[in-house]
Amino acid sequence: MSEVVVTSPLPGRALARLAATHTVRVRPLGPSLGSSELADLAEDAEAIVCLLADRVGAEVFARCGKLRIVANYAVGTNNIDLDAARRAGVVVTNTPDVLTEATADLTWALILAVTRRIVEGDAMVRRGEFSGWQPELLLGRGLQGKTLGIVGLGRIGSAVARRAGAFGLRVVAVHARKDRVPDGVVVLDQIEDLLRQSDILSLHCPLTPATRGLVDAARLALLPQGAVVINTSRGEVVDEGALVAALEAGRLSGAGLDVYEREPAVHPGLRGRSDVVLEPHIGSATVETRSVMAELTVDNVLAVLAGKAPLTPVS
Ligand code: NDP
Ligand code: DGY
Repeated sequence: MSEVVVTSPLPGRALARLAATHTVRVRPLGPSLGSSELADLAEDAEAIVCLLADRVGAEVFARCGKLRIVANYAVGTNNIDLDAARRAGVVVTNTPDVLTEATADLTWALILAVTRRIVEGDAMVRRGEFSGWQPELLLGRGLQGKTLGIVGLGRIGSAVARRAGAFGLRVVAVHARKDRVPDGVVVLDQIEDLLRQSDILSLHCPLTPATRGLVDAARLALLPQGAVVINTSRGEVVDEGALVAALEAGRLSGAGLDVYEREPAVHPGLRGRSDVVLEPHIGSATVETRSVMAELTVDNVLAVLAGKAPLTPVS
């Protein structure tokens, strides 16, 4: 029996399965943890199951001497110091693939909500202001024949691209994984070339030193007049101040965001705008997906604690 610290309750039966063979301490739902708090909690643990906002920095690996695995309940691992984990010989796992389709669906929900003004229409009806069909009521922007630019054609980016054909969009992409390029997608070398063509820009890269602030004022200025920015990757990939300035200047016609630069804080310049749709980081939030993510997370912990190879290690 090993000690496992879990930083939050998880959906489904996965944690019960873990508790059948190990001592599992589940922290009640609360604010995300910093490295010191996590190290305090997990000093004797052999495994940590954590959420994407828990910071697993070098201090955790220095102070938790028995630690064998950190299992992130997310595919993104920007919250974990992977170099420190490697040096300490601790396995890190994540939850790839199982959340791809749900996140691609949410990306499309944002694209459609922004371009067809779905949230504005809903609010108008609820306010009792719908007085009958009108030729120019809440005109949105059509998708047919436009260009969707995807930054990061990996698992989720390519699932988003696959759906684009159904809406008659042309797709261009940068940073494409060779085995994941759907038919018809044009792969470009330079993000600048992609930006100049993208009526809709959708971000699907991980947060790394190279992608932090990737979409800044200069890059936003390359987008065609009236473009839409969709971000379901990580908030820090976009300079939120620059995004607000581009919306205020009328350079962009809207934005759809699931993630924020200072999450969970949201830039005040976004909250008051009717041309942006804001979601609380729910890309993978379906009953089915969140439960399978928990199963995969627990399977990784069980494997490593049994001396076996993890199912989805982060390299
Ligand atoms: P993948 O690793 O499959 O794909 C990531 C893609 O980003 C790859 O094509 C990769 O290409 C590319 N990439 C890497 N570095 C750069 C760069 N500097 N500039 C542009 N593109 C780059 O990851 P997933 O598709 O599974 O997930 C992507 C991200 O989505 C996650 O890291 C996470 O942050 C976020 N996410 C958000 C969710 C939500 O709830 N909103 C849900 C799930 C994920 P290459 O490495 O070949 O260059
Ligand atoms: C992830 O997995 O990285 C998402 O942000 C949440 O599912």
